[in-house]
Amino acid sequence: MDETNPQIEKWRADTPGAAHRIHLNNAGAGLMPRPVFEAVTAHLEREANVGGYEAAEDAAEGVAASYRAVAELLGAQPRNVAVVENATVAFSQALSAFDFRPGDTILTSQNDYISNQLMYLSLARRTGVEVVRAADLPEGGVDPESIRGLLGPRVKLVALTWVPTNSGLVQPVEAVGEICEAAGVPYLVDACQAAGQIPIDVARLRCDFLSATARKFLRGPRGIGFLYVSDRALERGAYPLLVDMRGARWVSADRFELVEDARRFENWEFAYALVHGLGAAARYALEAGVEECGRRARRLAGLCREKLAGAGEGLRVLDRGPELCAIVTVEVRGRDARDVVLSLRRRGINTSASLRAYAVIDMAQKHAASAVRISPHYYNTENEIDAVVEALVEEAETASRPPLGKNKQKVQP
Ligand SMILES: Cc1ncc(COP(=O)(O)O)c(C=O)c1O
Repeated sequence: MDETNPQIEKWRADTPGAAHRIHLNNAGAGLMPRPVFEAVTAHLEREANVGGYEAAEDAAEGVAASYRAVAELLGAQPRNVAVVENATVAFSQALSAFDFRPGDTILTSQNDYISNQLMYLSLARRTGVEVVRAADLPEGGVDPESIRGLLGPRVKLVALTWVPTNSGLVQPVEAVGEICEAAGVPYLVDACQAAGQIPIDVARLRCDFLSATARKFLRGPRGIGFLYVSDRALERGAYPLLVDMRGARWVSADRFELVEDARRFENWEFAYALVHGLGAAARYALEAGVEECGRRARRLAGLCREKLAGAGEGLRVLDRGPELCAIVTVEVRGRDARDVVLSLRRRGINTSASLRAYAVIDMAQKHAASAVRISPHYYNTENEIDAVVEALVEEAETASRPPLGKNKQKVQP
């Protein structure tokens, strides 16, 4: 072990996957610690033994504990938490709560997550809403002053991705929240890549909605996410366009009443086992300490960037911004990142590929077609960072080596 922190051994012992792979794909899906998958499998076993509906009847306390843990993670109350299938559903449920009219504006950034951008564009096509992207700061990330300058009576929503999926950029979500609150404009934050690596306090963010998923830096299971809904939004009567029987009561033939809390954003069918896993992941993160763990993950990412930057011409680190997080993106010159990811996987190293299509604005600005995404977490080690850097140097050399018998073959710029 390369570190003195006695916690690392415990964290790694709690993480079975860490024993036989170098997992640097926490921005894809973090490795679940043992208490998380035990929480999931215990409930699945119960469903298999007594029946799904019957198991749900006994699960009330476990489910309530999950809401409490997620709320604590956000600095909110359980009444403000809706548990849904994933971050995309959380975000779309929030977006659907707005009755956009032609000429209304959604104000966002150059760096919002691909599916969010697609939803804005889809709404533009369906409703005539205008999508406006605020300018970036010269060093990267949205300029809060540009947001301020673009606010006006037609702006019905400001929506921002805290940490986009395709780079280590951290956007200034608190500064934007202050501006939105002062202007009285609703504010939606995608915290999918932040949850578990950056402490979240919804009061400081001043947001109306915040979406996230369990499986990434929070280390929960796949297939579950959550939406924070502020009291302000609930009191305003916000609800998703297609509310269902969990979110509303059908009181007479032509009338329904919304449930009082954020559960009006949920669907009736509920993945009980995964909800237990989400709660266990939130508790694990709270116990490990999001602040300290995030600091460690970011330090490992910083080390990785530093080593890659000094590793020769074949590797180009793409992350830019005044503040960077535990996501590192690197272009391997002359190689498609997907091939590099496969090759790294054969060496026992998990990473993922960011493609131009995932972030057309950002990747075009960086003149990059694809990048290898390396996302360490607190249970990773410096030795693992050394291993991925060494492997990437070798991968870059593969690109610059002429194929056998063709000494003059040109390497792609
Ligand atoms: C920034 C960001 N937002 C949203 C999502 C979507 O999350 P989910 O797949 O849980 O819907 C992702 C997934 O990679 C993401 O990185």
